[in-house]
Amino acid sequence: MLGQDVTAAGQAAGHDVTALARRDLDLTDPSAVATAIRDARPDAVVNCAAWTDVDGAEANEGAATAVNGTAVGHLAAAATEHGAHVVHVSTDYVFDGRGTRPYLESDPTAPISAYGRSKLAGERALDLDRAAVVRAAWLFGAGGGNFAATMLRLAGERDEVTVVDDQVGFPTYTGHLAPALVALAEARATGVLHASGEEPCSWYDFAEAIFAGAGREMTVHRGSSADLGRPAPRPAYSVLGTERAEAPRLPGWREGLAAYLNEMEVTSE
Ligand SMILES: NC(=O)c1ccc[n+]([C@@H]2O[C@H](COP(=O)([O-])OP(=O)(O)OC[C@H]3O[C@@H](n4cnc5c(N)ncnc54)[C@H](OP(=O)(O)O)[C@@H]3O)[C@@H](O)[C@H]2O)c1
Repeated sequence: MLGQDVTAAGQAAGHDVTALARRDLDLTDPSAVATAIRDARPDAVVNCAAWTDVDGAEANEGAATAVNGTAVGHLAAAATEHGAHVVHVSTDYVFDGRGTRPYLESDPTAPISAYGRSKLAGERALDLDRAAVVRAAWLFGAGGGNFAATMLRLAGERDEVTVVDDQVGFPTYTGHLAPALVALAEARATGVLHASGEEPCSWYDFAEAIFAGAGREMTVHRGSSADLGRPAPRPAYSVLGTERAEAPRLPGWREGLAAYLNEMEVTSE
């Protein structure tokens, strides 16, 4: 999902972009990674690849860590050898979600899920004096499955839905995050950076806004995460703030949602 928008943002910024899907490059294969970097000779690598099945990671932590942790080390080694700058995407799930004010880059990490641990392993596989880790949360965009896409699908199938109201974060439109990642690559930014937005909301609030934006009458019931009984716990409070001047300040999620609905050609008429 994010990779497609980063490809477009890089091209729009005038860069010669080599976009590699999984079929082109298995990141867990160190020699394939080294060959890909040697052949492309990039100035920068923006790593959007990941094991993103949060629930599936609970029973497959080794496989998730191979992609989200160990493979990031392969990428870092190859990039260092060829002088390419790495911008790596990470997540709010490295925090435990028990915070009461937006998480800053220097706050201690304490993942509560296998996915969160695997992503933290990826952050630690990088030399942060030479690479950037950009933590983002609650992504939605045209290029893949996400919460907004699920709500739009449900809007065509039923009149009522239950959505949790006990998780709070910033929904982040990949169309907004992608150019920010390209800019960080251009600037050869280093260290941990949080992509922060405006106006935190719950999934319930976000769902209501999606149905309103799509012009769909839907009864939205408030639910709790415990009722969902999903294998992986989610952080309750996922709001990312920043203490770094270089960190991306993204447009608010309402703006992102409007852009997404427009991109998906969803109209309220
Ligand atoms: N989605 C969110 O809400 C969210 C929130 C915070 C942070 N993030 C982070 O943002 C980044 C982008 O997420 P996204 O939502 O765009 O993810 P996505 O749509 O699931 O894309 C991840 C891509 O990585 C590929 N991949 C998986 N294993 C690979 C491997 N061994 N070698 C090469 N490619 C591999 C996947 O290929 P297949 O499809 O073939 O498996 C997929 O194309 C990730 O780092 C994610 O952790 C996401």
